[in-house]
Amino acid sequence: DRSIKIAPSILAADFANFGAECAAIEAQGADWVHVDVMDGHFVPNLSFGPATCAAIRPHIKGVMDVHLMISPVDPYIDAFAAAGADILTAHVEAGPHIHRTLQAIRAAGCKAGVALNPGTPAEAVAHLLDLTDLICVMTVNPGFGGQKFIDMSDKIKALRAMIGDRPVHIEIDGGVDANTAPSVAAAGADVLVAGSAVFKGGSVSDPAPYGENIRAI
Ligand code: DX5
Ligand code: ZN
Repeated sequence: DRSIKIAPSILAADFANFGAECAAIEAQGADWVHVDVMDGHFVPNLSFGPATCAAIRPHIKGVMDVHLMISPVDPYIDAFAAAGADILTAHVEAGPHIHRTLQAIRAAGCKAGVALNPGTPAEAVAHLLDLTDLICVMTVNPGFGGQKFIDMSDKIKALRAMIGDRPVHIEIDGGVDANTAPSVAAAGADVLVAGSAVFKGGSVSDPAPYGENIRAI
């Protein structure tokens, strides 16, 4: 369904070739590029930070969608904005002041996203709907690619009803593949992040599988 955007996560790309990987997935039909930032504190894994985002930015023509799995968030907002993030998504669980964080992200010139871990109810964003451009529903516990999908259809439907006619994306992140995508799209999601399901079987020297994988989702 081409009204659904596909945002490949470069967590599943070749870390030694990020620039070429970003160009390859865009050429193969990716709508956005999803960039997973992990701090070894909010989540039990480390990935990379604003310097890496700045380095890959010139290799992305479209939207750079930066998912911050870090705590605290606020001290780093300006650095990620300067690195060229179009969307900055913070977790509602990452601190006591998500409302302030979303305001600060918009003040820095980015679209503001808010992410919900699997254990966090839809109601956690009820008072944030006018401050947010994207709600990211995690369908794995964040920290690693390649995990098993957790069904969050009820949460997605509840969020779609809460959003009403506001221009807010619902993004799904974790374990999305050709088998799990139809149910989240039917529940009301419009952006699907996929890491392992997009990058499997391909490489920068043989990128055609990326396109086949994107079209299969
Ligand atoms: C999980 C990340 C996801 C993840 C997606 O912590 O936020 O973006 O890497 O990877 P797959 O699609 O392999 O679950
Ligand atoms: Zn992510």
